[in-house]
This record gives sequence, structure tokens and C-alpha cells, in this order.
Amino acid sequence: MPEARFNFPKGFLWGTSTSAYQVEGNSKNNQWAQWEQQPGNIAEGQSCGLACDWWGGRWREDFDRAEEDGHNALRMSIEWARIQPAPDRWDEHALDHYIDMIRGLTRRGLFPVVTLHHFTDPLWVDEIGGWENDEVPALFAAYAAKVVEALKSSVTTWLTINEPNVPVFLGYLLGEFPPGKKDLGAAFRVMTNFARGHALAYHAIKEEQPEARVGFAHSFRGFAPARSGHPLDRYLAGLYHRAWNEFFPAMFKNGVFRLLNRRITIPEAANTMDFLGLNYYSSDLVRFRVSAGKEGVFSERFYPEDAELSPNGMIAYQPEELFRAIEWSLKFDVPVIITENGTEDQEDSFRRKYLAAHIHQVWRAVNFNYPVRGYFVWSLVDNFEWQEGWTRRFGLYGLNTETQARTRRPSAEMFAEILKENALTSGTVRSYAPDLIADLFPE
Ligand code: FCB
Repeated sequence: MPEARFNFPKGFLWGTSTSAYQVEGNSKNNQWAQWEQQPGNIAEGQSCGLACDWWGGRWREDFDRAEEDGHNALRMSIEWARIQPAPDRWDEHALDHYIDMIRGLTRRGLFPVVTLHHFTDPLWVDEIGGWENDEVPALFAAYAAKVVEALKSSVTTWLTINEPNVPVFLGYLLGEFPPGKKDLGAAFRVMTNFARGHALAYHAIKEEQPEARVGFAHSFRGFAPARSGHPLDRYLAGLYHRAWNEFFPAMFKNGVFRLLNRRITIPEAANTMDFLGLNYYSSDLVRFRVSAGKEGVFSERFYPEDAELSPNGMIAYQPEELFRAIEWSLKFDVPVIITENGTEDQEDSFRRKYLAAHIHQVWRAVNFNYPVRGYFVWSLVDNFEWQEGWTRRFGLYGLNTETQARTRRPSAEMFAEILKENALTSGTVRSYAPDLIADLFPE
């Protein structure tokens, strides 16, 4: 059969995503480093340690890998605690370190997409109450301005905050992320302050660099009623969708949002999204239950029974939901970058199919002329997966944490082939994800 191709547009961004804490190593001055110390918080009592040793300089060899594999972009984040180790101190050496890294990217032809906040707060911020404190949004904006001033000659594309909905839910309702609270009032407060923090940072960045493109990275999950005709399942799936998916992007478009019986108004947040970063992994079914589940509401969430799961059951294979997420995002009327997508899979037996199928859905969206501008795999190299420690391996490259040795997984080869062609071809799918050939390229 002759080769068939799903072509991507010229200039489409292809790369991987990383975050400072998860890859840098020796990052001690933030609330995650402290959270890790308390027994029971991280799987198997593990810790981040040296991570991928990017702070020690191994970013160079990993950026080489990205370049050799034909990537043209990379998403990384800046550690607030390194730039501003104390409220009254900027660390210029740390800024120089990031300037070097950004130069390292551009020299290798990797377009930098830079996140300013990816889950970690400096300890001094934590000590004043973290994002529950109404002063923190302005402090965050001041830090953002400082970083943008230093990096603006090489960076035009900024993500203010990564997945603010994740720390709100996991840190203030489920107790799985620091500060480990289960407190709806605190969750609302933090949600509002993250929105304000984004808005203030947006305006501060624009003042420093009017041509900047500023967005945030949004964790999207599909929520469908487990029993489609059940009114309570439907109500709860809708509530999750509003709280998890709609709040932040709608706030950054309109400056106002209604949730439960509250109306939250943040006028300065209106029109503060030049593009939407979409992080997508999996989708849930939602079912009403009579007793309160672990999320404190009368519901439980789970993957469809027949869904294919990643080796540890963390990620479910529902690629069409990525297409639906992109369609949903059209109402915000801004370009979209898929800023994270990927799966844990130490053996790389599931990842190739997962990535190929999701890239195919991105192609479908592009083919409808939806404004999708890029796609980033989470992640380049295995890294410290928050509360799951090192038990979840998301890298295109494997990492031996004892020796720092990297191994190239077949998914890295597959991704390189897609990028070389700027297309998903039948040849690539046949070699790397043969299970998909009949679906994607029917005879
Ligand atoms: C996302 C986070 C990222 C990583 C992936 C697997 O929610 O943004 O840091 O942990 O999940």
C-alpha cells in the first residue's frame, strides 16, 4: 500500500514539556521540598533529590537530545524560589542560569515556551499562607515582571501558571498536594487568588514586553455521567466540568464566573488570555453516591470499564476526548497549544499507541482549521512525578536515577519520525503503533 499521510502545517510547534521542580534537582527552598519530608506524602517514601540534574548542567545533554530528535520547541519552567529566595532578595545568578538555558534552547533551534509557576512556591510564600493570602497574587506578578525583564530578548511566549485547578483540588479538597487541606472555603479563596495572580502577571508582563503572548496551562479532563439518563450523575458531571474545566479560562475571558451559589468577579482578569495552553491526559465518568466520597461531594469518578489503561492505571486511553477538548476551547476564541499530553509507561508498550492516536486527533482538529499551533509531549526525560515520586515514568527517554543515564525509548524514535515528516504517516504507525493501522488508515 502506498504511504498515506496526515500532514501538519509548516511552523507547527513540536516539543516536550518539563517543569523546574521535576527536573532540576537540589531544589530545597519551596513547599514541595518540605512536603516530601513528611512521611506518607510521596509514593514509597521517595524524594525528588537530584531529579534529572538540570540545575547541575544536564539540561545541555537533554536539549541536545531534543535537537537531535528534530524537536523545534521546548516548554520549561522557572523556579520562583530560586529567583526570589527571600521576599527582599533577587538572585541574579539564578537568573543568569535561566538565561543560559534559554540561550541553549534557541541555539539548538528550540522555541522556548516558559512557565512562571508550576506547582511550587518559595517557602517564604508558604509561610505567609501561600495562595490563601490575598497579598500573594501581587507578589507573584512582581516576580513575573522580574523574570520577563531578564528573559524577554529570547522569550515571547509565556504561561503564567500551570494547571491552577490541580493545586486547588488536590491541595485544598483532596489533601494529596501541599498544604494537604480539605477545606472548601480555602479552595475558593485559592482559586480566586490564582485567577488574580494570573491577571496581575498578565498585565505586568505586557507592560514589560507589549509584544509578549501570554496564556496559562490548563488541565482539561472530560467528565461524563456514568449513567447517561441519571439526573444526579448528569448534574455532578456538569458541576465538575464547570469547576474544573470552565472556571479559569472563562474567568480569563469574561472576568466573572458563577459557581455553586457564588458569583466571583475579577474585572482585571477579563481578556487576559492571548492563547490557551491545553494539558490533556484522560477523562472520567462521574456517578452520584449516597455517602460522601473522598472529594467531599456525593460522587465518585472513574475510568470507563473498557478503557485501555497505562501500566499503573493512571492514564486512560480516550484520544477522541482530546479532539472534544479542542472543540470546547473554540468558544474562548484564542489559539490553542497542546502544552501537555502523554502517559506513564516504563516499558514503552502503551505510549506509542497513546501518542500516535492523540497526535492523530490533533491533526483532525488542524484539518478543520481549528487554531491549534503546537503539541508538547509530557515529557522529555522521566522526572519526579509529584505524589507518585519515581513510580510513574513519563519520559520519551528513561532515566536511571542512580547513574543519571538516559535510555532512548522507541516513543522518542517515533516522535522524531513524525517531526521529520511533519506528518503522521502510515509507515510510522505501522512500525510503532500497528494496533492503530486499521483505524487510522483503513484499506
Ligand atoms: C500534569 C502536571 C505535570 C505532570 C503531568 C503528568 O498534571 O502539569 O507536572 O506531573 O501531569
